[in-house]
Amino acid sequence: MPKIIPVETFDLVLFGATGDLARREIIPSLFSGFRIGQVPPDFRLIGVSRSQLSDSDFRKLAQTAILETHDKSVTDEVCLEAFLQRLCFSPCDASGGAGWEQLATWLRPDVIRAFYLSVSPVIFEPIVIAISAADLVHEDSRIVIEKPFGQDLESAQRLNHILKQTFNESQIYRIDHYLGKETVQNLMALRFANILFEPLWNSQHVDHVQITVSESIGIKGRQGYYDNVGAMRDMVQNHIMQLLCLVAMEPPATFEPNAVRDEKVKVIRALQDVTADDFICGQYGEGSGEAGYLTDSRLDRSTTETFVALRCRVGNWRWARTPFYIRTGKRLRARMSEISVVFKSPPHSIFGQHERRRNNVLTIRLQPNEGITMQVTIKEPGLGGMRLAEVPLDMSFADSLTPEIGALKNAYERLIMDVIRGNQTLFMRNDEVEAAWEWTDRILSAWESEGRRPEIYPAGSDGPAAAGALMEFGRQWRSIQE
Ligand code: BG6
Repeated sequence: MPKIIPVETFDLVLFGATGDLARREIIPSLFSGFRIGQVPPDFRLIGVSRSQLSDSDFRKLAQTAILETHDKSVTDEVCLEAFLQRLCFSPCDASGGAGWEQLATWLRPDVIRAFYLSVSPVIFEPIVIAISAADLVHEDSRIVIEKPFGQDLESAQRLNHILKQTFNESQIYRIDHYLGKETVQNLMALRFANILFEPLWNSQHVDHVQITVSESIGIKGRQGYYDNVGAMRDMVQNHIMQLLCLVAMEPPATFEPNAVRDEKVKVIRALQDVTADDFICGQYGEGSGEAGYLTDSRLDRSTTETFVALRCRVGNWRWARTPFYIRTGKRLRARMSEISVVFKSPPHSIFGQHERRRNNVLTIRLQPNEGITMQVTIKEPGLGGMRLAEVPLDMSFADSLTPEIGALKNAYERLIMDVIRGNQTLFMRNDEVEAAWEWTDRILSAWESEGRRPEIYPAGSDGPAAAGALMEFGRQWRSIQE
């Protein structure tokens, strides 16, 4: 059974409270926590945005959001009503003004206070400045910043600088929701709570690592945001970089936030430059009955990449000879995110020449069907001599988890509770974000200076054919399937 550890009471000030993320993730996550007793009955959620909503309008919006995202069987009316009573709304303009005085009146002096910025990045800075000017920060305050944290190194440094004027680093929570995913944390447990893998977890035994984050959705509805960003900034600089760090990092001495983050930042700093030959960009065109990127983004032309494949190397003793292949894209064949550690084949086969030597593959599946599988070679059952076959040793979390744990799996729920607890392990530190941008900027500027353009791939496919050419020495991308 899951262990519910209630957090202390808190005031959560949610900027962008009427926005998509608030309705899809943040408000429903808080309700889940409330329902199971992790969020205390006297917490307070203060919704903030420019809209002139009343408390009751905001409660209605929250109710709809919860009913849309929760199974009816778990949303008992009394509990939902008690939750909604803890909500209020305070219209505020990011540039300051009267709303801020009103907001201050909602805040209780002696409880944990979290400011959650679920807004367009262009108003991150004005909001931080306005929070400071309204004198809303006390010792037990935290600030949560949604991605994107900057557009490049320069803008990330600037944002870090602005934040530092009002908050200590220990109060700043830069969210990457991939770090809140159950399997991502399990990767740490797998590596650092078992002795089995560590002796093999290096260039001597690992042939290569593949990380795929494939999405079947396009960018419809997000065109304004996406065309200025692209897959490299949207997915690689943050989510995939975090996954790569967790695979490649050295064991930290403890599971303390800074011990973990020290090791992750070392990996990012050890990433070698990626040349244009190691980097493939694509953009989805029409296919499988779906429109292409230009139609979805309502543009006549655009060189924004919706697909990226990269071959990169971590330049340290552990990984010097092991390539990491990364791939992410929109409108691909299926929604599938996984990390595969492909081990080297045995040095010699005792089973004769007709039996090729096979690789063990450890796959950590993030979504869908979360779980871990280990591909091993066995004797094919039955008669017919010593023939070998590959079978997966399967550990599917969905099968082994109770419904209660299933309901707890939401990444946002976990991350918001960590904010209240003051645990920064699953959040990015300033130096980590900046190091990730430094590496990303170098790749993007190399790509741009060569004047290369993304290859068009049909929607519903595996992405540009050129991505296959990144795989050398007979290696192959794993198939994209649910
Ligand atoms: C977001 C990106 O951070 O992550 C989106 O901005 C992407 O473009 C999303 O679709 C993917 O998240 P998940 O949890 O659905 O894999």
